[in-house]
Amino acid sequence: MKILIAYYSKTKNTEELAEVLKKEFERRGHNLEIEKIEPLKEHSSFIWFLIRCFIWETDIQTIKFENVFSFDRICIGSPNWTIVSLPVARYLKEINGLEDKKVGIFYTSAGFPQEVYLELYLPYATFRYRVRKKGGKIVSKLFLSSSIPFCKIESKYGQKVIKKFCDEIER
Ligand SMILES: Cc1cc2nc3c(=O)[nH]c(=O)nc-3n(C[C@H](O)[C@H](O)[C@H](O)COP(=O)(O)O)c2cc1C
Repeated sequence: MKILIAYYSKTKNTEELAEVLKKEFERRGHNLEIEKIEPLKEHSSFIWFLIRCFIWETDIQTIKFENVFSFDRICIGSPNWTIVSLPVARYLKEINGLEDKKVGIFYTSAGFPQEVYLELYLPYATFRYRVRKKGGKIVSKLFLSSSIPFCKIESKYGQKVIKKFCDEIER
């Protein structure tokens, strides 16, 4: 399968997860492409923290794969900014060809990754809303923590949910 992994990462945690997913999909024999989403202007975490209270998205640099139609699966990653990160929100507005595509979404967060945790539900809800608006179908989601040891990428829990995510994307 031809799989696109598109992500934004400010402090490299989501990037690390994107790279782990890329390796795992390649190990399973798939063809991978990476879209690194970059804001036109990067800010400090504090500034982003303030900005995202007033705006929902931000300008991004030119996208390599503006039309994702030729991909069999699209995995999109974002840090948890209580909502979906602003560069990813804009990315989802700019891309074309997502209609009826199977989409996987992944996050890293400073807090617990449980979906029932309201703070994490909000980023999921805002992410899901934007994917659905473009006609994409979310077939898998993956939340991991960048600071809680037993929910990090390399933890037993992390390895288990990464495998589950890749299995669901492959289906
Ligand atoms: C603007 C901003 C808002 C954030 N909001 C949350 C939050 O609501 N809950 C949380 O657990 N972590 C929050 N974080 C922490 C990030 O989600 C976490 O550090 C993540 O792993 C960063 O990913 P990255 O290294 O790919 O940028 C926030 C970080 C930033 C910069």
